[in-house]
Amino acid sequence: MKKTGIFYGGTESGNTKSVTDKLATFLKVPSKDVINIAEANIETLNKYDCLIFGTSSWGIGGAHYDWEDFVDLLGDLDYSNKKVALFGLGDQKKYPESFVDGMGMIYCRLNAKDNVVGYTSTEGYNYYFSMAEREGRFVGLAIDDDSQPELTVPRLKAWADQLKNEFQ
Ligand SMILES: Cc1cc2nc3c(=O)[nH]c(=O)nc-3n(C[C@H](O)[C@H](O)[C@H](O)COP(=O)(O)O)c2cc1C
Repeated sequence: MKKTGIFYGGTESGNTKSVTDKLATFLKVPSKDVINIAEANIETLNKYDCLIFGTSSWGIGGAHYDWEDFVDLLGDLDYSNKKVALFGLGDQKKYPESFVDGMGMIYCRLNAKDNVVGYTSTEGYNYYFSMAEREGRFVGLAIDDDSQPELTVPRLKAWADQLKNEFQ
């Protein structure tokens, strides 16, 4: 696989970090390439051919606050030779009207959507609205470790296999 960096936005309860670490294991991404977005800048992102951005969700349209600061810089990133994939954590039972909105917010701010890979089906989820749903599919992987924890690992494994192909 091409040089891949996983950038996660903070973590309050530890869910996002735990999911990030599992994904890194399934993709064989070394820990030095697993980076908190609060410690990254555009030069850090430019070192990678493939970028994976992950965040939890905090209210309607909200990503983790570390991402709130970083998204303004995304417009400066040159994606021409890069692939980007997104994952988002959320809770469809408690927040069914804004499920995984954090992932949708990051997607909105990407200026080269043609280079986004890792879209997934919305089947198996139950919610009213998500900013991360476009044309009937999620713009990345949606993880609900609060109300569907038993699906986290199978979903991550399947997505890691998908990315291994789509990052080629
Ligand atoms: C105050 C608060 C607001 C939240 N808002 C949303 C939301 O709008 N949409 C959603 O899908 N999940 C929402 N969540 C759920 C979190 O995104 C979810 O629990 C996530 O796994 C937390 O990951 P973290 O601890 O790594 O930050 C919210 C949780 C809290 C505590």
